[in-house]
Amino acid sequence: MALSSRFWRLNLFPKPSLSPLQTTLKSLKPLRQKLCPILSLPISSSSSLNSSNSLFSTSKNSAFSEPHSRTPSPQDDLIVLGIETSCDDTAAAIVRGNGEILSQVVSSQADLLAQYGGVAPKMAEEAHLQVIDKVVQEALDKAKLTETNLSAVAVTIGPGLGLCLRVGVRKAREIAGSCNLPIIGVHHMEAHALVARLTERELQFPFVALLISGGHNLLILARDLGQYVQLGTTIDDAVGEAYDKTAKWLGLDLRRSGGPAIEELAREGDAKSVKFSTPMKQHKDCNFSYAGLKTQVRLAIESKNIDLWSAILAINFYPPNFPMLCSNTTIPLSSASSEDRRIRADIAASFQRVAVLHLEERCERAIEWALKIEPSVKHLVVSGGVASNQYVRSRLDQVVKKNSLQLVCPPPCLCTDNGVMVAWTGIENFCMGRFDPPPPADEPEDIVYELRPRWPLGEEYAEGRSEARSMRTARMHPSLTSMIQESLQQQP
Ligand code: KG4
Ligand code: ZN
Repeated sequence: MALSSRFWRLNLFPKPSLSPLQTTLKSLKPLRQKLCPILSLPISSSSSLNSSNSLFSTSKNSAFSEPHSRTPSPQDDLIVLGIETSCDDTAAAIVRGNGEILSQVVSSQADLLAQYGGVAPKMAEEAHLQVIDKVVQEALDKAKLTETNLSAVAVTIGPGLGLCLRVGVRKAREIAGSCNLPIIGVHHMEAHALVARLTERELQFPFVALLISGGHNLLILARDLGQYVQLGTTIDDAVGEAYDKTAKWLGLDLRRSGGPAIEELAREGDAKSVKFSTPMKQHKDCNFSYAGLKTQVRLAIESKNIDLWSAILAINFYPPNFPMLCSNTTIPLSSASSEDRRIRADIAASFQRVAVLHLEERCERAIEWALKIEPSVKHLVVSGGVASNQYVRSRLDQVVKKNSLQLVCPPPCLCTDNGVMVAWTGIENFCMGRFDPPPPADEPEDIVYELRPRWPLGEEYAEGRSEARSMRTARMHPSLTSMIQESLQQQP
């Protein structure tokens, strides 16, 4: 059975005459009085984000450990649970309407990733199923709350792996159904962009955002909430995928994912030693391509004669968990000779320089385009897993300074996939009245959800269409922006 197409936050409430937040809170009042009698629980500051746990890797950020000291507003009453399972991290967080992070928990599948060199959907689904209940419960416990204290549940519904998204959506609907809570379906990439508005309160629309992760490379102009222009995207691989493959081929420890391993090794290397060419130089647009750079890296590794033959030896002589620790095609870095290590560091540094140069060039042009559309743009947001990289940040900082803009990067723990960004995006949309009513408490377990594995964020900027763009549009959902626009037009 397919759920009604209302399963997501386009079920707009009548256009508010009061502030959107007051209206939505008003319209929820009967719900809350009946089911959530204690919305304004006193939360001690010690409950925010700082407790660690041995089961799950929990990101910490002292910037958020103290509640904001200011007069309480209606937003303070709002308490939203955010659930994220679109790829290989199972994450949950609880955030107040005023942006105070009450808890955040991330359970990573890095060991699986290291073992298989990528995300295998069925195994990732299994891993999410194993931990989802614990992750959500831990988020509630850390916030010293129960499900009945929540005002709403936000969950990623796309883009991502269908099997994985389903685990989070089922959990979110189970909680929302049993506690009669509204539910907000969240776009994963919108969440990566909007979390910057939680960490940087000055950040107003319009702004430009570069969203760089394992599966996506996006340049967008965020004109308003739900109004995004896609200035550029990748025609093949995302930059995070290139980091991950390079790390794998260089035999690095993948347990923290490839990106951080390359960043660390690159510090030892000479970034000019291996000549890689910058992708898409001849295309004067804002699109990206990393497949060619990946091939260049692969060829460089082969030509430098890094001990690929040792793979066979390695498999025979390394401990049984060897494939967990590194790629099984190259001898692990920890066992490499100092000369071999230097060669790998040079390749890592040279790869990183060119991979980031490609980002810099595209950002320069995107800023130029964005200023033509919206001259009041003042910020470039850089978010997504790769944005936790210090080299990426410092290079892009120079690009924005040249253009008299300001760079906004969320702290690394909010750049990689997390529940906070989902909860916060839920809050932003909830305050605009964009949410769905509570699902039925007795929803059957085998229900088919309307998920959006391939779901663009914005409409393509006409001038930015590249001939090189892949035309893979099969089973692509209409963009979030077009759906919001359509729904706004249907309003009386
Ligand atoms: O946003 P994210 O957590 O998940 C996706 O939505 O894909 O991004 C994960 C990607 C991985 O490719 C990982 O290698 C990369 O972000 N990443 C990094 C760094 N930390 C994570 N890449 C470069 N440098 C880093 N420090
Ligand atoms: Zn992501």
